[in-house]
Amino acid sequence: MSWSPSGKDIDFYRENGFLIARDVFDEKQLAAFDKAILKFAKLPTCQSSDRKARYPEPSKYTISHEGLLDPDLAPIANDPSIIDTVEILLGQQPCLKAFVAYLRTPGDRGTVGDYQGSSQTGHCDYKPFRPAGASLNWLFTILALADYTEEIGPLYLSPGSHKCTRLEQRGRITHVHRARADEIPPMVDSKLRRGDLVFMHMFCWHEAPGNRSNQDRWGIYNKYMGVDAPPGCGPFVFSDDAYNALNDRGRQTIRHHSHRSIGTARLIVEHQDRILMVRMKDPRNGQGAGWMLPGGVAEQRDVITDWDIGNVIASLEANVKDQTGLEIDWMTYVGDYVEGNGLCRVYARPLNELPSLPYSVEHEFYWFNEDELKVQLPSLANHFVLDAVCAWLHEPKLRGIGQSQMRAGLKAR
Ligand SMILES: [Fe+2]
Repeated sequence: MSWSPSGKDIDFYRENGFLIARDVFDEKQLAAFDKAILKFAKLPTCQSSDRKARYPEPSKYTISHEGLLDPDLAPIANDPSIIDTVEILLGQQPCLKAFVAYLRTPGDRGTVGDYQGSSQTGHCDYKPFRPAGASLNWLFTILALADYTEEIGPLYLSPGSHKCTRLEQRGRITHVHRARADEIPPMVDSKLRRGDLVFMHMFCWHEAPGNRSNQDRWGIYNKYMGVDAPPGCGPFVFSDDAYNALNDRGRQTIRHHSHRSIGTARLIVEHQDRILMVRMKDPRNGQGAGWMLPGGVAEQRDVITDWDIGNVIASLEANVKDQTGLEIDWMTYVGDYVEGNGLCRVYARPLNELPSLPYSVEHEFYWFNEDELKVQLPSLANHFVLDAVCAWLHEPKLRGIGQSQMRAGLKAR
């Protein structure tokens, strides 16, 4: 079955921040999704919100990217009606950034509040520390697989709330002033029924109360971003197996996949188009090794949930501070490049003021412009530096900030 939005539907989405499509999937397709989700939820390894719960104990059970490998679930990631509609609503080629099904059993407590503290229950999912939430052009596709009744827990949406968040352009970076709960229109019950498909804007406030019924509530909650709006904290990297499990149309939406994992992270510190490079000095003769971007081994240092995998900012912040003395409170993702056996995740941070750098017996510093870097190519420790610098200086991407969870205020120092 094929579905596409009318002009009126698109206008409705722009005005309200969400759109509900009905009858996109037939009962046979829905039953295949049910079967796969229940199968995963019953596995002893299935993630639950309170970690120890086992189905059907009260909890939220999460099936994430492993679902792409299941022939009953993968079709939703290949579905042309969804992908085409997402492309229209984002105005760009869509890039899948999270594939997830949630199953809430009776007694589950419902959604959590806003991480910035303005609501205990509602929130929007633009979050600068979360790979699935830190793009500046993304949306949810939510397929309800149960009737979201008053007892089982409706999906409440705040129509027009996506317009309450403000954007501010500063140089190459777009900063986000997230709306607070007291600034948004009242929530309304979206009255979702089994088979309804919601397209929901990244800034749309929503909440889902706990499940007070005696039935499970489950649905598929995928996230897509525009290909030119990378998440500030860096995207999740899908496995090659997940990529290969999809058809051609589905594969076009998986832009970040690899058999390598993120092993290092480096930072382009930029001041007026000049890039800070660092090299180790040999303490015996003062000679320098190859010039490199500050950084080093990447770790998932302050990751709270699996949804933060890919954000390696906390460890990069620490490495940059060690090497240069600079305190970096946010940075933005530029790209992934092969370094050794792994991927090097490169971020950038533009600085308005030229910072003073400490005298170091171990490190030497120099601010290179792009032409000087080209001349220095043989003495660069990493061959990808020029590509990364070029991407940062010239790619016309919509870039927002990325932060560690600690910088975003989630974890005390
Ligand atoms: Fe949410």
